Amino acid sequence: MKNTVRTFQMAKEKGEKLTMLTAYDYSTAKLMDEAGINAILVGDSLGNTMLGYEDTISVTMEDMIHHGAAVARGTTNTMVVVDMPFMSYQTSVYDALVNAGRLMKEGRANAVKLEGGASVCEQIKAITDAGIPVMAHLGLTPQSINAFGGNRVQGKSEEAAKQLIADALAVQEAGAFAVVLECIPAKLAAIITKKLSIPTIGIGAGNECDGQILVYQDMLGMFSDYIPKFAKKFADVGTMMKTAFADYIKEVSEGSYPAPEHTFKIDDDVLDKLY
Ligand code: KIV
Repeated sequence: MKNTVRTFQMAKEKGEKLTMLTAYDYSTAKLMDEAGINAILVGDSLGNTMLGYEDTISVTMEDMIHHGAAVARGTTNTMVVVDMPFMSYQTSVYDALVNAGRLMKEGRANAVKLEGGASVCEQIKAITDAGIPVMAHLGLTPQSINAFGGNRVQGKSEEAAKQLIADALAVQEAGAFAVVLECIPAKLAAIITKKLSIPTIGIGAGNECDGQILVYQDMLGMFSDYIPKFAKKFADVGTMMKTAFADYIKEVSEGSYPAPEHTFKIDDDVLDKLY
């Protein structure tokens, strides 16, 4: 069955955990869909993991549309959420609406995600009023890395924790169907999760959130530029890939690949006429 916003709401009501991973291409999305993931986020983390930028600031609408449509082609039952990139919604409600529409029409998204609390609630309301589901994102919001002064755990002081609770309630009130909580103390995430009627999706926010998300290269050990504390390596695919690449280089260099079973035949009488 296709996962939708209703799946998210029903999971919250029944206390069933939701699963999300990021993906940015057709074949990875297809594998995740077959594995039964509830939703894929085409995150603007693609700026780091796919495009090699230091942060997500340079990611464009065209990048998100390109990768969103590829992921959508690889999914059957999985819900596809596409990130709104930096400055595609902060500038105005109008820009937010136009760009969310493009992510749906051209990027084939089922929902969009944007970062921020009370300051982007007008945008969340306008986008949801237009029939586009919005996932909110609070805590360590990477598009604000320059304002935060680096990747820091958020919500540790009383004031910051109260602000996060207020923002979570505000994005829910504005119409968000779920909210990502990134890099905040587990006990604060648990309080927010209890206060909200929409599901919380944690990343570095403990196991009392209603669901979890990870960047797929982090959980497969494929990205070594920066390894967050919360990122459990579920498989060492990075090492497997490097071993396979090295084996390929060796076999091609020594002439053992391609072997006869990898080659195509031609009839001898055709061959004779070629000499
Ligand atoms: O862009 C992204 O991958 C994200 C997740 C880390 C939540 O926003």
